[in-house]
Amino acid sequence: MKASVVLYVIVGIIFAITSIVLGIENWTPEEKTLLLGLQRSTTIPKDQTNAVADNPKAAKLGHQLFFDKRFSESGEIACASCHVPDTYFSDAKQVSEGIGMTNRNAPTIVGATWNKWQFWDGRSDSLWSQALGPIENPSEHGFSRAAVAQIIFTHYKNEYETIFGSMPPLDDYFRFPDNASPLGDEDAKANWQHMTTSDQILVNRIFANVGKSIAAYERLIKPGESRADQYIQALRENRSTDKILKENEQAGMRLFIGKAKCVTCHSGSQLSDQQFHNTGVPMVADLPLDVGRSTVNPQVSSLEFGCAGIYSDNQKVCQTQPVNQGIQAMRAYKTPSLRNVAQTAPYMHAGQFKTLRAVLEHYNEAPKAPMGITEITGLGLNKNELNQLEAFLESLSAAPDSPDALLRNPAQ
Ligand code: HEC
Ligand code: HEC
Repeated sequence: MKASVVLYVIVGIIFAITSIVLGIENWTPEEKTLLLGLQRSTTIPKDQTNAVADNPKAAKLGHQLFFDKRFSESGEIACASCHVPDTYFSDAKQVSEGIGMTNRNAPTIVGATWNKWQFWDGRSDSLWSQALGPIENPSEHGFSRAAVAQIIFTHYKNEYETIFGSMPPLDDYFRFPDNASPLGDEDAKANWQHMTTSDQILVNRIFANVGKSIAAYERLIKPGESRADQYIQALRENRSTDKILKENEQAGMRLFIGKAKCVTCHSGSQLSDQQFHNTGVPMVADLPLDVGRSTVNPQVSSLEFGCAGIYSDNQKVCQTQPVNQGIQAMRAYKTPSLRNVAQTAPYMHAGQFKTLRAVLEHYNEAPKAPMGITEITGLGLNKNELNQLEAFLESLSAAPDSPDALLRNPAQ
């Protein structure tokens, strides 16, 4: 009896040592499937609603527009002011500041083309339609679509025309005022109403093409291969995973897909299920009330610049909305990607948490939601386990998989 116990122990120890030496981790088939699902995707998803999505000329133009501060009321704000290449295309602020203060934290755009829905509340259904939001938002660029068209006409006419064909006579200021939009200030609205419907459509088309060019550029800002990806690749090929991740990172990976239940929402190649959840994140006292997805039109694709709108290049490929309306939508936000998460503090839709540790403590404690019902239930993880999870999150970073030239202002 005793001898057999000793034998078991010896065999066990030998097995453990061989596993460590050979770097074989004992993942169950279910765990392995979950892990393989998290691996980086290098195939840029198609966007049939944007005919120039993969057109290099459009990407080149979009690159210039992304950094061009002339597209703003003050001449000081570009997309790159809040999506700063040095901070993984986010801005390291709690909430972003453009012409005015916004009420949300700037997400990274690295890998944003893999998002099904854009913005924290998913109110946009493509990268190109998303890009048109901040330009006319009074707190961001504070600009008008007619002014955008004028700048393209003055500074980018040749580039634009080689991609999209000839521009209308925008120097006819009677037909095309330089501050006009159905949104925006009183002047802009009045000027817009004076335009003929067909001229409004001409301006809208240029505006949509600006969004499509910017999206063509953003599509090339792809996530790089993190150490976690390398580990999963080795697992996929049944190679040794030895030394790719440190022991505590690997333990954190195990918690992530197991006891800590992170993978129920942070799944897939972007570590996001592309759905919306209330996770009981606290309100920020001095910001306007934010109810998350509750205010989002469930027919996102039929919006003016949505997939089913007239400026879309394919109205037949619109995605179905995730079904969470009513109470489920209250303070529900999009599950963000966790790629490069260690580089993009602060966290959550209004930058509520300064550190990853604070995020993890939030999940561990699962406080009552300030509005609506939280979906998280508390984890009971000890300090060591929290350290491990944090270490795993840090292994998800990698420099963007894009040529250096795309990560800089093309004008410099
Ligand atoms: C004043 C700062 C600011 C400027 C300027 C700005 N953004 Fe953003 N961006 C944000 C904030 C804040 C959010 C989140 C807003 C929300 O969810 O309501 C965001 C969201 C996004 C998203 C969605 C990412 C995701 O994961 O959902 C993309 C893509 C993006 N911006 C691209 C752009 C582009 C392109 C421009 C220029 C046309 C631009 N931004 C200008 C601050 C800014
Ligand atoms: C029920 C779904 C769900 C589960 C489970 C979940 N998350 Fe999240 N996660 C979200 C949502 C939704 C947000 C954004 C919430 C917000 O901004 O209000 C988020 C935000 C985050 C952020 C901030 C990212 C950023 O860029 O701001 C981190 C980090 C994070 N989660 C890690 C984890 C970890 C680690 C676990 C497991 C302990 C986990 N999450 C479990 C849905 C979930």
